[in-house]
Amino acid sequence: MPKINLTFDAPEKIATPALAMLVFEQSKVLESALAAVDKSAGGGLRELVASGELTGKAGEAVLVHRPGGFRAQRLLLLGAGKPGSFSPATHIRNLAGKAARFLKGRRITEFTFFAPKKYAASDHAQAIVEGVLLGEFDIGKYRTAKPGKKPKALDSLQLGGFDKRKKKAFEKALERGEFIAEGQNFARELANEPSNKLTPRLFADRVKAMAKKAGLKIDVLDEKRITKLKMGALLSVAQGSAEPPRMVVLEYSPGRTKKSGPVLGLVGKGVTFDTGGISIKPSNGMEQMKYDMSGGATMAGAMLSIARLKPRQKVIAVIPLAENMPGGRAQKPGDVQIAMSGKSIEVINTDAEGRLVLADGLFYARELGATHLIDAATLTGAVMVALGHVNVGTFTNNQRFLNSLHASAKIMGEKFWQLPLDDEYRENIKSPIADIHNVGKGRGAGATNGALFLQEFVDDTPWIHLDIAGTAWLESTKPWMPAGPTGVTVRTLIHFAENFNPGK
Ligand code: BES
Ligand code: MN
Ligand code: ZN
Repeated sequence: MPKINLTFDAPEKIATPALAMLVFEQSKVLESALAAVDKSAGGGLRELVASGELTGKAGEAVLVHRPGGFRAQRLLLLGAGKPGSFSPATHIRNLAGKAARFLKGRRITEFTFFAPKKYAASDHAQAIVEGVLLGEFDIGKYRTAKPGKKPKALDSLQLGGFDKRKKKAFEKALERGEFIAEGQNFARELANEPSNKLTPRLFADRVKAMAKKAGLKIDVLDEKRITKLKMGALLSVAQGSAEPPRMVVLEYSPGRTKKSGPVLGLVGKGVTFDTGGISIKPSNGMEQMKYDMSGGATMAGAMLSIARLKPRQKVIAVIPLAENMPGGRAQKPGDVQIAMSGKSIEVINTDAEGRLVLADGLFYARELGATHLIDAATLTGAVMVALGHVNVGTFTNNQRFLNSLHASAKIMGEKFWQLPLDDEYRENIKSPIADIHNVGKGRGAGATNGALFLQEFVDDTPWIHLDIAGTAWLESTKPWMPAGPTGVTVRTLIHFAENFNPGK
């Protein structure tokens, strides 16, 4: 983790290897303060504007060495687009990430990000820290490099542009940003691991080590206890693999909890690899199925941040872990399984395994006292067909509950889009020989069918399902974020846990 601190100097007074500032696409590209410094030092920046090399367009990045009038060695000017279409929740974070990645690519390990006057509240300071730490994330853990060629981590980040009189509040914001990015990056670290380095047992070990450090209570159920508790749906997925399943339970309790108060239960799909089982997947692209535990990773990451931020809300996380393999003992299409809840499931397609492990995860979370449930899962290819890689698909049996989660997503710069869960679809999952089967009839509404199946195990408990199959993995690098695991929904869940108030 880099050192992170504040500077209250004017931009031209800051001595730093690189000073990153935003420029907007507007009639005066250089804001008056910047223009004045530039003017008295010869007008180099004005020349850049006049030549059309600096316009403020979104996506633009101009690096100036030895900028006239500034003590900084370099000035990095980042186009922020038209002021009217600038959304601080998303753009500040992304521009900070972009600055970090741009400078990292040039092996610069120390820089200052200067916030524009209009966007210098504590939320913005927090978002800048998040953006930089998220942009810094390195996916190349297993790459060997010649000495001196390994990407250098950021040593120190300085933030400028904030009001000195509120120093305490801004320091708090910086710390919050660190805690949030730490959780999101922990989720990404887990999702980035290949399946041979992160079996259900190894996943549980990693989360255990995290919980110890963060001061979270943890319980790891092994196959014996899972069997004793009759988690037949989770066991059915694991039985085709030589790797035994695990069920991880994390608990965060605030200092003073009311015995009868609400308990937020976070449940994440932890399929450490999804071959499809006997309904095996095509080999093309199958390597991607190492990230089929992203939902579980998300919940572990959110819990890490929650442990650091210490909200007043009690939160538990339940992560069912299994490897979906077509071994000799694997379940076969048509097999009937009994979930922990007692419901019988005809397994038509062994590749619809996420809903099986979640069935027992959701039910167990209720047994442990969760009064409100949110699950996250890379559940269906169908959500990708519907929403591509932009929006998380959301489903609920309680609209008010979901509305407040969507509000958190907006604030934290994540995109959620609600999909339907009408009773009319329920026909799709009825089985002639068991209570339900694990795939829908026909070809339509695949993401809804998955959600409907999950709903069978939550009954009337207020519940939200997040299908992150399209958003948990970034296909190609963005200026602010490397390709790979995104840790999507971690930030939203943290914000939600901090502000959760079902009585209101
Ligand atoms: N893990 C997959 C869903 C997935 C697909 C995640 C692509 C990320 C990228 C899930 O277990 C699955 O296989 N779902 C099936 C369900 C079907 C058999 C009803 C699917 O979507 O094809
Ligand atoms: Mn599958
Ligand atoms: Zn899966």
